[in-house]
Amino acid sequence: MSFSSTPLTPDRQKALAAHKAMEFVQDGQILGLGTGSTVHHFLTALGQCVQQGLRVRGVATSQATAVYARQLGIPLLGNDEPWDIDVAVDGADQVDPRLNLIKGGGGALLREKIVAKVAQQFIVIVDQAKQVARLGLPFPLPVEIVPFGWRTTQRHLENLGWQSPLRQKAGQPFLTDNGNYIMDLHIPEIADPSALELSLNQIPGVVECGLFVMMTSLVITGTNDGPLLTRAS
Ligand code: A5P
Repeated sequence: MSFSSTPLTPDRQKALAAHKAMEFVQDGQILGLGTGSTVHHFLTALGQCVQQGLRVRGVATSQATAVYARQLGIPLLGNDEPWDIDVAVDGADQVDPRLNLIKGGGGALLREKIVAKVAQQFIVIVDQAKQVARLGLPFPLPVEIVPFGWRTTQRHLENLGWQSPLRQKAGQPFLTDNGNYIMDLHIPEIADPSALELSLNQIPGVVECGLFVMMTSLVITGTNDGPLLTRAS
């Protein structure tokens, strides 16, 4: 990919980061395949390599990713097979200086977290706008909850002090691939992501939250000067 003085669009930054991530993929590996527009670029690049003979198998973190991976001919492991994931590659909605993340803008946070947690290496690919000094608004924190008693769960969340609207799609509650709902918590600044993750996940009805704390191995950011690599310290 060539670099010019014209600033790269966010989508070109995503593509740049995604192509760089391909350098961390090796023949024979099992890959965690994230979800979202940045991962879409990664899947496209991976699919081309698979068509040229690269032998990898993937674990898809969403139905959308599974559909696109199959179209590209990327072999997938089943959801109930044992996984031994070498590298997981995923996007993020926010990345802080400690490489903690907010994820779940696309609603796939639960499967993404299960896959990222089991991977030996978790590589996050982003455009520059995702880099923030502190996690929180303007991006709300997605929390996956079970539909049963959702108003009660919402009350628990709002009692913590933040608006927690139910995510909607076409006038209906947004449904995750797991058949659950999402609440988007309006938290101005997340001072302690680890403590917040713990307290949210203790609320009955909460399945998982979109905070990914101390999980990231490497962040690849697409910038006008090329891909920027930031490793966990
Ligand atoms: C999916 O639920 C999310 O966690 C995505 O990984 C995240 O929203 C990043 O998406 P984009 O790559 O589309 O910005």
